[in-house]
Formats: sequence, C-alpha cells, structure tokens
Amino acid sequence: MRGMTTPAAAITDAAAYARAVQDAVEAAAAYYTGGTSPLDDDAYDRLVRSIAGYEADHPGQVLPDSPTGKVAGGAVEGDVPHTVAMLSLDNVFSAEEFTAWTESLARRIGHPVTRFHVGPKLDGLAIAARYTNGRLTRLVTRGDGTAGEDVSHAIGTVEGLPERLAEPVTVEVRGEVLMTSAQFEYANEVRTRHGGQPFANPRNAAAGTLRARERVYTVPMTFFGYGLLPLPASDPALAERLAGSAYGDLMGLSAGYGIHTSARTAVTDTVVETADEVLARVREIAAVRAELPFGIDGIVVKADLAADRQAAGSGSRAPRWAIAYKLPAVEKITRLLEVEWNVGRTGIIAPRGILEPVVIDGSTITYATLHNPADITRRDLRLGDQVTVHRAGDVIPRVQAPVAHLRTGAERPVAFPEVCPRCGSQIDRSEERWRCAQGRDCHLVASLAYAAGRDQLDVEGLGHTRVVQLVEAGLVADLADLFALTREQLLGLDRMGETSTDNLLTAIAGAKSRPLSRVLCALGVRGTGRSMSRRIARHFATMDAIRAADAEAMQEVDGVGAEKAPSIVAELVELAPLIDRLAAAGVTMTEPGATPPPAGDGPGPDGGASAAAAEPGPLAGMAVVVTGTMTGVLEKLSRNEMNELIERAGGRSSSSVSKKTALVVAGENAGSKRAKAEQLGIRLATPDEFADLIADLVADLVADPLSGTAV
Ligand code: IVH
Repeated sequence: MRGMTTPAAAITDAAAYARAVQDAVEAAAAYYTGGTSPLDDDAYDRLVRSIAGYEADHPGQVLPDSPTGKVAGGAVEGDVPHTVAMLSLDNVFSAEEFTAWTESLARRIGHPVTRFHVGPKLDGLAIAARYTNGRLTRLVTRGDGTAGEDVSHAIGTVEGLPERLAEPVTVEVRGEVLMTSAQFEYANEVRTRHGGQPFANPRNAAAGTLRARERVYTVPMTFFGYGLLPLPASDPALAERLAGSAYGDLMGLSAGYGIHTSARTAVTDTVVETADEVLARVREIAAVRAELPFGIDGIVVKADLAADRQAAGSGSRAPRWAIAYKLPAVEKITRLLEVEWNVGRTGIIAPRGILEPVVIDGSTITYATLHNPADITRRDLRLGDQVTVHRAGDVIPRVQAPVAHLRTGAERPVAFPEVCPRCGSQIDRSEERWRCAQGRDCHLVASLAYAAGRDQLDVEGLGHTRVVQLVEAGLVADLADLFALTREQLLGLDRMGETSTDNLLTAIAGAKSRPLSRVLCALGVRGTGRSMSRRIARHFATMDAIRAADAEAMQEVDGVGAEKAPSIVAELVELAPLIDRLAAAGVTMTEPGATPPPAGDGPGPDGGASAAAAEPGPLAGMAVVVTGTMTGVLEKLSRNEMNELIERAGGRSSSSVSKKTALVVAGENAGSKRAKAEQLGIRLATPDEFADLIADLVADLVADPLSGTAV
C-alpha cells in the first residue's frame, strides 16, 4: 500500500498537497462505501484541516478533488437523483469556534438566532427514505449529494423506519442508519460464522450491510430520522407546512408518523435560546456519550426557526444554518501486540490486550480488555492485527475489532492458556469466562486484600503486603482464618511489634460488626460488586434468607436478571462452608434496618417490592447522586459509604444525573453533575443539608462510626 501522508503535518509544497488530497479522497471513499480506511476519524479531520490550511495560503492551487470544497462522501456513483441535495455539515471543535459560528450566522441573517435546535450527531451513514402515500417505497444513500445508490433491498432490515407511516403522506425522511453496539456484535458474529471478515466498527458494519444485496442472513440496523421534506408528489399544503415549520416541529411530526428519532433516547433533541445553553447541552450530551448504546461523534446545532434557516441558506457543501460540534474521537486504530492472561481475585482468568501505545481523547492507551477466549475467537483477533480500540469516558478501553483489510499475513493466532497461568492448575472452561480450578484460592492474596478493603470489611492495617505475609506464613488460607489469628501468631511475624499486633487484632474484631452488605461484598461473589451486594443484603436482610433464595427469588432483587441469578445462587452454595465459619466466628450476618421478605412468597401485587421498601426512609423512592467533596459530619465518608447511607435511607444511589434524579448532593468543587442538575432543575443539597435530611442515620454514624462502617 502507498504510504500515507502524516495527517497532522503542515503541508509545505504542492506535491505533499496533492498526496494529501489523494489520501483524503481514498479515505472518504472507503468511509462512505463501507470499506475500511487506515485513517481513523481524528486523523481524517486533521488531514482535511491541513489541506484547508495549505489552500488558504495557495488559493490558486486548489484541486477539484479537494475534500474541503465538496460534499463529503462524493465517491459513490449514484443512479437515483436527490430532489434536494443531501448536504454535509461544517464542523467546529471548541466553544470558541462555536461562538464564532453563531456570530457569523447572526451577521448573515441580520439578527442573533434565538432558538437553536440541538441534537446528537449520529455516527452512521445518511440515507433518504421516500414514502408514497405512507408506504416506504425507496431507500437512497447520499452518494455524491446530488444522486445516491438505490438500497431499497434493505427495506425491512432497518429498525425505526416503518414500512407504513401512521398517516398516508408522501414525504422524504432523511436520517442516519447505524448499528447499535448489540447489532454490531451480532453482525460480526454472523459474518465471521459465515466465513466473512469482521467489520472494524459499527459504522463500517452499517455501510457494508446496507449495500450488501444477497446475503443468506439478515443483520438488523437502526434508523434515526433528522430531517423531513416534501417530494414533488407531496400534497402542496403539506409541502408548505414543512417548509414553514420549526426544526423541532418537523422532528415531532416525524415521530408522530412513526419514525424513530433521538426523542426516545437519553440524548433527545432540545430547543434552547442562547449559545451558552447550547454549550451546556453539548456538555450534557458529551457526558452521557459513553453510556449510549449507539455511537455519536458530535452534536448538531441548527437554527430552529424556518425563517432563520431560509435567511441563512446553504453553500454547495453544507447548510449555513447548521453546524456539527465535533466531540473527540473515541476510536483509534493501533496494533494488538500481545495478549496476557491475568487471574483475578475470584479465580477468573481474563485476557488483556497489550497495544502499541495510542492516544485517545488525551490519554495514552496501552492495554484494553478482551473479555474472554470465546470473545477473541468471535472477533477473529490475531496478534499483530491492526485493531480498532474504543475508549469512552472513564470506561476501560476495549478492543473492538480487527481491521481485516490491513492484514499482512504475518499475524499469529492468539494462544489460549492450557493451564492456569498463575498456579498451573486445571482450567474450568465450562463457562465463557475461564476460571482456575482452584477458584478463589488461586489468587488468595488478591481475594483477601479485597475483602479487607475499605469498602468491604475495612480492616485497617491489612493491606496487600501484610496479607502476603500472613499467607506466606501459612497462617491464613481463607477469609475465616483471619478471625482465628492469635496474638502469638502475629507477634511471631517479621515487623510485627506489640502495638501493630494489637491494632490489627482490634481492626479484625471490628470487622465482625460490618453489615451483611459488606460481608457479602467481601466474599467476592462473582457478578456482584458493592452496589449489587447492598441491594441483595437489603432485599433479604439476613444471610440465611439469601442462602435460602433460589434463582427465582434472587431475581426479585433490582438489577439481578435471569442470567445472573442462577450463578449467584451457585456461588453462594460454593461459599457455604466459608460463610458458616464466618458466622461461627461472630461475623454479622444481618443488614441493619432491613427485614426479610415473607418466607415462601412469590412476587407481591406490586411486583415483589423488597421488605426494605416496606419501611420507607427519608429518601424513599428517590434517586440520589453525590458529587464533589463532602464536608462537615460527612467529611470522612467515601463515595461508597455515601451510597450506603442513601440506600439505608430508602433511596437509590446513582452516579449520573438525569431527569429521573430526585436530589443531587453537591459538595465542594462539584463540577458537571452540579451544572447538569441546575440545568434540569433538580433539587440540590449541600453536604450539611443532606446530613440534616437523614439526621437519624447520621446520628448513628457519629455515635458509632466503626459499627457497620458508616452506619
Ligand atoms: S442534519 C443538510 N442532524 O452528519 C444537512 N445530520 O457530517 C443536515 N448527521 O450529512 C444534516 N446526525 O449524515 C443532521 N442529528 C443530525 C445528524 C446528522 C448525523 C450526519 C448527516 C450529515 C453528516 C455531516
């Protein structure tokens, strides 16, 4: 393959400029036809910007193919003319650039825009869907903007694009076809199962799938409408109405016809009045991006009022009444160098990809999760592959897929371990996640250090090094052994004087009074973490009730599904001897404030509300988010402890602010979550006000800070 121009480099001569234009043309062609480009979005944007920079200095040398002067994706030879050109969008990359755009728009139309329509920029491909008398008759890709390819064969495989509208109208709906994460996973699974090569990302998958004509299998995609316009055969009254409608009303009308829009997602379109409000909405959408089940690469801001749009008009490439506020790329291409296998505290043997370092959204990524061996096989990953790596928000980066067309033939298969890489025991392969046959005992140190951690039994002085010492001395072989340690045994260890020994024994004794939720969490039941352990403990109230629960009863716990329930039940059976010994040692097996559900009862008339809900606390039914640094009586509490408090008071702790949030506790230096709460009009409380609200619980906490750690 021809060498690529370094995308970020400034272009200094005509030859480099010509090469850059050629690279951009090839990348755009690949992008819009479902092929794969060796340039990721970020690199492409940088390339286009350096081309634009050169053209600004050498206006006489601009090449006709330059990506700066034409509709993006103009590489496809289309055969269906568009009635109205399908344009692209200009981009901004910062608040300053956005403000400059609003100012230039205001100058152009003679007054500032007072209504902005703001919505997600969906990362798929543009499509026009023609409806005649309410029936879907034709699907056309954007092509070069003036004519596109007929892909009507895909009718019936695109969710959100009904074959019949709720009204018998003749209209063209425009929007984006994409694959949700689940659709993408499925697409690659069936494709590789049929001997095909995996798609590198959901966008490519949607593009490739849309254009594929004869497939033995069907892969669903999803449509999001973002435009509605009349066709020549439309009813003139409707045509007039559409031409005069505010953008928000057009979207409402589309949704009323049965078209899927962003209205039913966590990033609904909104109409706001000022540039600052637009920027606040941009931040909000950016904040939830990582949690969305589909890809967005920015936010589209439009003048909402028809009169403003008409006054602004369009250029040959993009309308002047809309702009794309691009978000940083969350996907990059890099090389998968190695796969290492690590044993976790529950004995799970997890693969982790070692990558050629790559910067994504400001952080250098060198590792990415790979889930399990079956997943590696499903994705057809090989060592040495160029892979797409995805990193959004604080989520651990993950390898998405190989970029199969960049293979050189030198790639090697990923070697799966024959025996446990930690202790050499057999591997239990009965589930997709492989596990050492020794289970928790394989990595005893990790499992004990976790159990002693602050959010579990909170045994001060029992850090990793001390745990290693205890295990190596043969004093502790499981969690229950901790409670049998004697003063003499501890004094016999290196670096253990009288004071440290007594302190450690006191700390271990204190661990016995932690509430059930923390004991459960300390056990490290697979598939449960801190918040799930709390929900289980509050639902059942006692360890006996938890152990008596079958999978059906377990599913009554909020967040425990049909898949998780049986594995939790099985884990508890496996842990039974250990739990018995902990109970015998005097470890707490009840959850303060919770009462067990009536024995033998199925779900109640309200769907089986837990016993805990029968005793409403001051936060009953409220979703509460904590942000910023706590002060006053709450000063020393970790986030987990604050969440425990909220749940004790009958509330539900949550980490992100949405319309469903009832209260945001905002401490010092609270940032975007506080801003979002203000924007949504959600009740805010300072740490002191919150402490007042749950005064009884806080009084217990202050009176007896160690018992049950934080209430
Ligand atoms: S409005 C006249 N709204 O992004 C063009 N476009 O990079 C009006 N896109 O060509 C387009 N989400 O394919 C609009 N909410 C959205 C969008 C959106 C994604 C695509 C569209 C456009 C491309 C420009």
